[in-house]
Amino acid sequence: MPGLTIGDDLPNLEVETTHGKMKLHDYVGDSYTILFSHPGDFTPVCTTELGMMAAYASKFAERGVRLLGFSCDDVQSHKEWIKDIEAYNKGHKVTYPIIADPKRELIKQLNMVDPDETDSTGQKVPSRALHIVGPDKKIKLSFLYPASTGRNMDEVLRVVDSLQKAAKHKVATPVNWKPGDPVVISPSVSNEQAKEMFPQGYDTANLPSGKDYLRFTNV
Ligand code: BEZ
Repeated sequence: MPGLTIGDDLPNLEVETTHGKMKLHDYVGDSYTILFSHPGDFTPVCTTELGMMAAYASKFAERGVRLLGFSCDDVQSHKEWIKDIEAYNKGHKVTYPIIADPKRELIKQLNMVDPDETDSTGQKVPSRALHIVGPDKKIKLSFLYPASTGRNMDEVLRVVDSLQKAAKHKVATPVNWKPGDPVVISPSVSNEQAKEMFPQGYDTANLPSGKDYLRFTNV
């Protein structure tokens, strides 16, 4: 299976979407972009997911993040389905484009194939893949969920906050981190550098090994 994974360049494919044809790199521009796929139009879990993405669109926009959906059905089908999504999620318009891939040409290149699911014609369908692409057009984070498991948009928002925090400061976010919590200082930063980089100070956990690698700060 071809792999599109963390660190890879997003292929600059030309895609057909509900907003017309576009090249993926042009859509990403200088922003973070969430590219998220769905097994198919007019399916229950997908309808809830796309609706919730519409509801969260302003939160992603506040963070400078663009959204780009993906499902294999054609553009006309997507446009009909959007009416259902918006009716189910009252008050939230689907303003982001959705890629169409009726010939199943893109899902392999984008590592979005579900190995277990096929549609009524026996063709492979996308999994619930989600790639977060950075302004440098590289994949920063990937989720791969089976068709049976809907994603959690709060978690998507949380990981965007983590990625952006880590890109801005030389830090990483620990387990169950949420915005406002302390972060950890990257192991590549020496204590001397840390004193300069984090004048607000940092706390080092006292560990049995005596090593000083677990350092918390606030940024
Ligand atoms: C769904 O979106 O509900 C779904 C799609 C394909 C297989 C199973 C569930």
